[in-house]
Amino acid sequence: MSEIYNYIDESKLSVVLKSIEDAHGLPNECYLEGPYNKIERKKIFENNWVVVGTASSIPEPGDTKSFNLLGIPLILVRDNNYKVRVFHNVCSHRGYKLINEDCHLRKVIKCPYHSWSYDFTGKLVATPHIGGVNIHDHKDFKKDESGLKEVRSTIWLDLIIVNISEDAISFKEYIKPLEKRWSKFIAKEDYDLIYHPKDYGYFNFEAKCNWKFAIENFCESYHLPFVHPNLNKYSKIDDHYHIQGLPNRFAGQGSLVYNPRFKSNKKFPNFPSWPSRKDKQAEYVALFPNVMIGIHKDHYYAFWLEPINHEKTLEHMEIYYVGKEAALSNKYKNIREENFIQWKNIMTEDLDIIEGMQEGRNSPAYNGGNFSPVLDNPTHHFAKWVASSLIN
Ligand code: FES
Ligand SMILES: [Fe+2]
Repeated sequence: MSEIYNYIDESKLSVVLKSIEDAHGLPNECYLEGPYNKIERKKIFENNWVVVGTASSIPEPGDTKSFNLLGIPLILVRDNNYKVRVFHNVCSHRGYKLINEDCHLRKVIKCPYHSWSYDFTGKLVATPHIGGVNIHDHKDFKKDESGLKEVRSTIWLDLIIVNISEDAISFKEYIKPLEKRWSKFIAKEDYDLIYHPKDYGYFNFEAKCNWKFAIENFCESYHLPFVHPNLNKYSKIDDHYHIQGLPNRFAGQGSLVYNPRFKSNKKFPNFPSWPSRKDKQAEYVALFPNVMIGIHKDHYYAFWLEPINHEKTLEHMEIYYVGKEAALSNKYKNIREENFIQWKNIMTEDLDIIEGMQEGRNSPAYNGGNFSPVLDNPTHHFAKWVASSLIN
């Protein structure tokens, strides 16, 4: 029997898997404090491919960031060969957490406690006084077995993606269905054309809610007229279609009326392979578990989630353009700003909503709710993915 049933009634999870007319959403236990969270950390986050940062945010050797994955401390670092590496953020000596904030390191990752030092490939290179005062080696100590523990990682569309358990299918396999879907918009060569601007390319929010609400909300366009009245003036529910990837690894919605209008009448350059007959199409897909991606003919964004605990999530928004000029030159600065403000406003409107759902989940009267059989399908898709990941 699955461990999750010690904490959640089997019936509360099996009802999520029913067809949408009869299904309820995930039960309250999945959003509140309790032992559930340890199981979620393992089954959802350790066992899958999870976004932990972006390669462009650590461009130079020695650039380092720390990341907390529901309490698991990690280090992201660029090594001297420009390879991005992810390590468990813990010293091999007595377990001090090595890095607490983003920084640039000159040569090594040095533990503040007893100064053991690791190079950027994780190799332990210095163990001062380990053999007694001024004796920096010891015959019984195997230095080469005490490096940092590296985490399986890969980079896709600038996202640093890790699999902590190391037994997920390869990322190449994991992403295949989504890449196949998007091959109608962008050729593989176009993936290399994305650039992250130095201005108007990033913002973040601290959301007082469970990370899953952000995904559930992102997946549907049902809320457009009520939550995003401005957006809804030109992009209505009817202009959207559902996306439900099988095998079930992503879900979301597409728009048929993407038509950016900037005050200056300028336009960003498009992806070279984006077909002109699809130039009003855009897709918004949550790749499970923790990244929401928008692709348009002229920009791409990744809105990724750092789950701090069951009721706190950092949302990181990264916007990318096609080619260096669009991302970096002054020529496009004004419309980069306009586009940035537009997305920030939309995401701010959603923030109130997802925080309100967290509060609602304290109600013992709520049973996970009912879905619109017509408009909530992608959200149900995500709930099913969570429920089945927990059960397996
Ligand atoms: S715990 Fe890191 S050097 Fe001792
Ligand atoms: Fe929204």
